[in-house]
Amino acid sequence: MTIGIQTAAYLFASILFILSLGSLSSQESAKRGVFYGIIGMAIAILATVLGEGVAGQVYIIAAIAIASVIGLMLARKVEMTSMPQLVAILHSFVGLAAVLVGFGSYLDPKTQSLQGAAHTIHLVEVYIGIFIGAITFTGSIIAWGKLEGKIGSKALLYPGRHAVNVALLLVCVVLGVLFAMAHGTDGLIHLYIMTAISSFIGVMLVMAIGGGDMPVVVSMLNSYSGWAASAAGFMLGNDLLIVTGALVGSSGAILSIHMCHAMNRSFFSVILGGFGNAPKGEAKAIEGEVTALNHEEVSALLKEAKSVVIVPGYGMAVAKAQYPIYDMVQTLRKAGKNVRFAIHPVAGRLPGHMNVLLAEANVPYDIVLEMDEINEDMPSTDVVMVIGANDVVNPSAQDDPASSIYGMPVIEVWKAEKVIIMKRSMSAGYSGEDNPLFYKPNSEMLYGDAKVSVEKLLGFLKS
Ligand code: TAP
Repeated sequence: MTIGIQTAAYLFASILFILSLGSLSSQESAKRGVFYGIIGMAIAILATVLGEGVAGQVYIIAAIAIASVIGLMLARKVEMTSMPQLVAILHSFVGLAAVLVGFGSYLDPKTQSLQGAAHTIHLVEVYIGIFIGAITFTGSIIAWGKLEGKIGSKALLYPGRHAVNVALLLVCVVLGVLFAMAHGTDGLIHLYIMTAISSFIGVMLVMAIGGGDMPVVVSMLNSYSGWAASAAGFMLGNDLLIVTGALVGSSGAILSIHMCHAMNRSFFSVILGGFGNAPKGEAKAIEGEVTALNHEEVSALLKEAKSVVIVPGYGMAVAKAQYPIYDMVQTLRKAGKNVRFAIHPVAGRLPGHMNVLLAEANVPYDIVLEMDEINEDMPSTDVVMVIGANDVVNPSAQDDPASSIYGMPVIEVWKAEKVIIMKRSMSAGYSGEDNPLFYKPNSEMLYGDAKVSVEKLLGFLKS
């Protein structure tokens, strides 16, 4: 393939990637967006593999085929609730790739022969690429561990950690200067030490972030992986990789900023490992008593109610309860009740998780409201059903400065006449924080798996 055709293919692929990102911004066009992305990526890979100066195509195509089979199998097997873990581990691959490309590019005899400013610029690209790549690699592995439940979701906050991070950063800067001044491949030792340090920074940055802030971390690592890919593009002199990496990097950063706004968090505080976000004072003592109802009693309450709000959360996704829930909603609506859903921006484990599940069960969009739209209706609501949600309805976010989720906006379900909390036990949500909502006088627990419970309620409502 000539350079001209390759450039045209790269341009076309870049346009498809931009169209893809644009289409992903709404549910109706998202499928089309994914399609644009797939075509763009196929063109990009073909144009690169068939490009001038690329040898060993057979091996490359064999590797792509094997990796595609593994990817397909993984994607088919993965549960929707485990998607963030998959995304996190994929980000780690991008980080690792940037590190490997960095070392390969440094040792490449062609780049070794560069002179003057071109040589210095190349060294800077290598150094920054490996630095970002290593942070992305280890940070993503820790994020995967936290999301998968292999590592505790609570923030690891040790005194002086910010000073340690800044000191390590300074060491990396000094090493960078020494690296740039080294002759031949003498800088390899500086690269090794910097890789170890930046890997450690990646671990510590993500370990310091609590479960409640993990959504932002996942999108932030997405952004880092984009910058790592972009850096790899500079090292390899591949324009498409630079453009694609920049698109991923900037869209991930914009998503992180939006999520921080939605969760009332400072973007810089989250990306700097919870800087200035340490919980303040002693945790507030929880007052009150936990009371529970059975399915028949809850269905009686629903039959009495005129307005019902359903707050779904991660537990609804785990139980796959969206289908019976919609059956229940239809039964209640037929009985003349005003039934609506209240969606918190970080309910579940990935952005838009609840919206996707409800759309899958054919719930009409007009009864699915965002947190800000429905909070003011809470005092006039008869019954709120919290189905497998926990952190997103935790009042400590408003009244307990010692809580790790303090300041995050929540759905104010406790303002309703009656709150029914449907979950299997008294265990905490993802943030690991206790929930005083369960102890409020107008709250009642309805224990059990969400799907089983909704089906039982449906039986009573129809009888
Ligand atoms: P959580 O606070 O995690 O609470 C979910 C609750 O569902 C748990 O307390 C659990 O209690 C219950 N549950 C689990 N399986 C169930 C089942 N089969 N039937 C009934 N209940 C079940 O969820 P949330 O309120 O949706 O909040 C989301 C949390 O995840 C936030 O802290 C958020 O920051 C974090 N997070 C979100 C994202 C995104 S982008 N959305 C990404 C990563 C992390 P039992 O065990 O007692 O049943």
